[in-house]
Amino acid sequence: MKSFYIETFGCQMNVHDSEKVIGTLERRGYAQVQSPDEADLVLFNTCSIRDKAEQKVFQRLNENKRAKGKVIGVLGCVAQQEGEKIFEKAPHVNLVVGSASYPKLGELLVQIERGDRRVTGLSLDSDDTFETPMTRRDNPHRAYITIIEGCDKSCAYCVVPFTRGHERSRTSDSVMNEARQLAAVGYSEIQLLGQNVNSYRDPSPAGWNFAQLLEAVGSVQGIRRVRFTTSHPRDFGKDIVDAIDRTETLCNMVHLPVQSGSTHVLAAMQRQYTRDEYMRRIEWLKGSKRSIALSTDIIVGFPGETEEDFQMTLDLLDQVEYDSIFSFKYSPRPNTGALSLGDHIPEEEKGRRLTMLQEKQRAIQIRRNSALVGTEQEVLVEGFNSSTGQWIGRTSQNRVLNFVAARQALREEMIGKYLPVRVTRAGPNSLAGECAIAV
Ligand code: SAH
Ligand code: SF4
Ligand code: F3S
Repeated sequence: MKSFYIETFGCQMNVHDSEKVIGTLERRGYAQVQSPDEADLVLFNTCSIRDKAEQKVFQRLNENKRAKGKVIGVLGCVAQQEGEKIFEKAPHVNLVVGSASYPKLGELLVQIERGDRRVTGLSLDSDDTFETPMTRRDNPHRAYITIIEGCDKSCAYCVVPFTRGHERSRTSDSVMNEARQLAAVGYSEIQLLGQNVNSYRDPSPAGWNFAQLLEAVGSVQGIRRVRFTTSHPRDFGKDIVDAIDRTETLCNMVHLPVQSGSTHVLAAMQRQYTRDEYMRRIEWLKGSKRSIALSTDIIVGFPGETEEDFQMTLDLLDQVEYDSIFSFKYSPRPNTGALSLGDHIPEEEKGRRLTMLQEKQRAIQIRRNSALVGTEQEVLVEGFNSSTGQWIGRTSQNRVLNFVAARQALREEMIGKYLPVRVTRAGPNSLAGECAIAV
């Protein structure tokens, strides 16, 4: 029996790609093991979004340098970006495959199995999406479904169009079949994935757009929660808010990356929207009948970002009052348009801006979370924290709500259940509460 080990870096797309790679390997008779030492095949599914992420990959490759007799593979975004250069930087690597070539993974494995030691899958002109008859999902309640791969935008800072190629949507039939199959085996939460889900276009004659697909997935019998990520503000239509209003299973939560609060910086980033256009979408979301939580991504220190631009981003946080944010220091990336703009904002200044941003957001989150004390929230129970004796739940708004139950219960009685929990305390990053129902 051949064994493999896989380590995954990066976004949910990568996490889900790994689930599909694992399924593909298991179908070919490989068994997954939990440490590289035990494995015949060691895979790193990599991320290249910022320099640090890429450095981590080469560090891990270096740590596995003396792994004699093993096949070492680099998958994902660093594989696509660096291509055959990886063989020079880390000569012990045998397999380099970008995500656009995963539909050919089977053939590439055949080459490895017959003893080839420099195997690559680096073509980016694929029209295929990566669909496998078997995907190995670890979480028995929440499942990812890819609806669109690649990205046709060209944000000036971003490597993704170079690492994942152009946009390819799956047919609505194949997405719906997967959703139904998942519901039939007990999954109740689905997360639709794509770098830009809003530009989903059903390639079949049905021709659905994203809002139609979203609503249809939300109507599958047995599905109680549907989330989606990521939305690009430019393509985010009012029809998505209308779909959320109409369909209870669509979660009260939208991630809408803004990147900057300054129209000037947004133009330099080639984001294709102004601050006002972004705010119009926020108004649609705030005007919903549902109470939709909002989150975003922000980059500080993009070339040319002045103190005034940065203040506009801080001001945007006050105006929107996000429920959570992901914030990053600008990191110059290979091939991207912004490389020609230089990287003149010193590291310490980027750090200062990041800290200010995060402190402001922390205060906003404390305020927003505190407003929920006394309310009842439905949670999906995801785990148990034995050190605190609390169950870990997640609300429709994607907040973590840790709670104590009315009586001691077994994990299998609780995990995967939907329960009403009364919120008793709030912190910046989570809520705490009590569930009165004896399961
Ligand atoms: N497709 C998604 C984002 C993918 S990357 C979207 O369009 O929003 C996730 C986040 O990483 C981005 O939203 C951005 O905030 C951040 N990011 C991307 N490239 C970056 C870079 N070069 N430096 C710093 N942060 C970056
Ligand atoms: Fe990158 Fe922009 Fe595409 Fe998002 S939309 S993946 S930030 S290029
Ligand atoms: Fe990273 Fe690639 Fe995702 S660069 S964030 S793993 S698309």
